[in-house]
Amino acid sequence: MTKRCGRLAAGIACSLGLAIPAAAQTNPTQPPASVPVIRDTGDLAGPRQPIFFRHDVHAGKDQIPCLYCHSSVAVSSEPGIPSLQTCMGCHQIIGGSTDSHRAEIQKVRTAWADRKPPEWIRIHALPGFARFPHMRHIKRLGEKSCFRCHGDVATMPQVYQATTLKMGWCIRCHVQNNVSRDCLVCHY
Ligand code: HEC
Ligand code: HEC
Ligand code: HEC
Ligand code: HEC
Ligand code: HEC
Repeated sequence: MTKRCGRLAAGIACSLGLAIPAAAQTNPTQPPASVPVIRDTGDLAGPRQPIFFRHDVHAGKDQIPCLYCHSSVAVSSEPGIPSLQTCMGCHQIIGGSTDSHRAEIQKVRTAWADRKPPEWIRIHALPGFARFPHMRHIKRLGEKSCFRCHGDVATMPQVYQATTLKMGWCIRCHVQNNVSRDCLVCHY
């Protein structure tokens, strides 16, 4: 095994021959060495998802790079949510270490067996009259820039919207980066 195969999840991915680009990790803080057991999701920020999928476990503790799952972020204007096939690369083998993990992972396996992908609730969404080329932002700001617009996702048990996504917020960063503020850049 290579150095990258040290951590549990990365190790599984390595042993399955899945390539994780080392430079793709987006992690502004030190990844947590352990994550809390959460029994009650009622108090968490963000909408409750059909499966309790934890970014603090996957992207934080197990350090799976953002782009391993959101691979189209750097190539498409629609970043996209990973398919169940990506999940099953690991969850055919990983069943979970706590009761709640096992119960949630069972939902993933059942969804896969039934060919019924979970209907994830969309969190970040601009109104249709605003244009946002996701890919161009990543190209220019870098693959580690996710936190600038999404907050520190690797520490979130459940994703929530951490920035306003309002016009003034867009324009502030454009001014700092000498990007055009012409109305038609963002509005059709
Ligand atoms: C193991 C796969 C996986 C990894 C690794 C991963 N994500 Fe996700 N991500 C998902 C899934 C599944 C969802 C949909 C469910 C949810 O919202 O929690 C999602 C949702 C999101 C959303 C919300 C999308 C929306 O609806 O607006 C953002 C933002 C996001 N991820 C950013 C990140 C960032 C940043 C990282 C790295 C720090 C990361 N993700 C790592 C699988 C992953
Ligand atoms: C590279 C390997 C890997 C991939 C890919 C992966 N997982 Fe996981 N997942 C893990 C590991 C490791 C754990 C922690 C298991 C434990 O110790 O309980 C875990 C835990 C979970 C859990 C229970 C705890 C939590 O995070 O909520 C769920 C649910 C889960 N994964 C769903 C998914 C879904 C859905 C996808 C695809 C979008 C996915 N996983 C992709 C490795 C992976
Ligand atoms: C400059 C700000 C910015 C950066 C940097 C950024 N995003 Fe986004 N992201 C957004 C906005 C705005 C949306 C909503 C887009 C829309 O509704 O058209 C979004 C949407 C998403 C979604 C949901 C897409 C869907 O189809 O449901 C995911 C997943 C996501 N981003 C992941 C990432 C990841 C991973 C990174 C880092 C590699 C990243 N983003 C970097 C601003 C950003
Ligand atoms: C963190 C900084 C940052 C934020 C926040 C941000 N942008 Fe940008 N944006 C950039 C940079 C840098 C570029 C230049 C990319 C390039 O050179 O290709 C850019 C380019 C663009 C472009 C293409 C401009 C052109 O000349 O064609 C559009 C459209 C755009 N942004 C829309 C938005 C919208 C809409 C929002 C808010 C929802 C937003 N941006 C938020 C940094 C940001
Ligand atoms: C950098 C991208 C960007 C530029 C440049 C931009 N806008 Fe916007 N605008 C947005 C986004 C994103 C929204 C939706 C979020 C919001 O309502 O703030 C929006 C919303 C709006 C709205 C609707 C506000 C509401 O309350 O519903 C109007 C009107 C508008 N913009 C006009 C303009 C005009 C006029 C210009 C040129 C002077 C301009 N915009 C330049 C990104 C931009």
